[in-house]
Amino acid sequence: MNTPAPPTNETRGSLACVGMGMTLGSHLTPLARSHIEQADVVFAGLSDGIVELWLQRMHPDVRSLQPYYREGKSRLQTYREWVELMMAEVRAGKRVCGVFYGHPGIFAWSPHKAIAAARAEGFHAHMEPGISAEDCLYADLGIDPGRFGCQHFEASQLLFYERRIDASGYLVLWQAALVGDRSLGRLATGPAYRQLLVDRLVRDYPPQHEAIIYRAPTLPIEKPRIRRVALRDLARAPMSAEETVVLPPAFPLRPNLAMQARLAELDELEQAATVA
Ligand SMILES: C[S@@+](CC[C@H](N)C(=O)[O-])C[C@H]1O[C@@H](n2cnc3c(N)ncnc32)[C@H](O)[C@@H]1O
Repeated sequence: MNTPAPPTNETRGSLACVGMGMTLGSHLTPLARSHIEQADVVFAGLSDGIVELWLQRMHPDVRSLQPYYREGKSRLQTYREWVELMMAEVRAGKRVCGVFYGHPGIFAWSPHKAIAAARAEGFHAHMEPGISAEDCLYADLGIDPGRFGCQHFEASQLLFYERRIDASGYLVLWQAALVGDRSLGRLATGPAYRQLLVDRLVRDYPPQHEAIIYRAPTLPIEKPRIRRVALRDLARAPMSAEETVVLPPAFPLRPNLAMQARLAELDELEQAATVA
């Protein structure tokens, strides 16, 4: 007698976390839109109230995740609550769509956790990429990350941990306006905290090196905001939570002569083998 397969949750609730992109009206992919339209309930983790209103025109049951943020409350607790809110509906058998600004998997804790939790409980879960602040900055600042390489860090990681910076490539620092917030509960830190970031960066860069403070447009009527300051002045430059800091390469690439010699030897061997 065949043993019946154990029941799974595959046919019941499901979760899709999709990206809204950065700019209202132009970045939403057809696939992300279809996840939104076909969901039973939509949760919105968006940074702009106007974008949220636009989302509400696509679906009758859009629930904002923004009210769960509070000054002094740990963001980690807020993000855990977001996971639980989405999972409660998935467990209730609903098709749930979490909509997050930018890309839902870039510097975003809850979508990854919710997808892992849903899959662990046997539900179908999927992440649909979106255009992130990273994509916009490559376009607006004319950066090709393949040219010299590009490192991305959450700015606080440079203060909390010993990290190696390669100043021959681009450096992108996220959440610089919050740098050094150990409580995870502040909405911004300030110049004294950013000064510690500058102190860390001048270990690898000249103080006069350029730092770019970048904001991608979130509304189609806006233009990218690009401010260039000397690294030593970065602490005093006003900065909002919606800005990302970029440091262009400071030093030329150093040739790896030993590896180039080994490559030349290998080329010769391969050429000799082809001739023989
Ligand atoms: C929690 S992360 C979210 C990133 C988002 N998931 C994405 O794909 O771009 C927040 C950080 O993204 C960056 N960011 C958010 N909005 C931005 C904007 N309009 N322009 C540039 N960077 C932005 C800032 O570094 C900010 O501190």
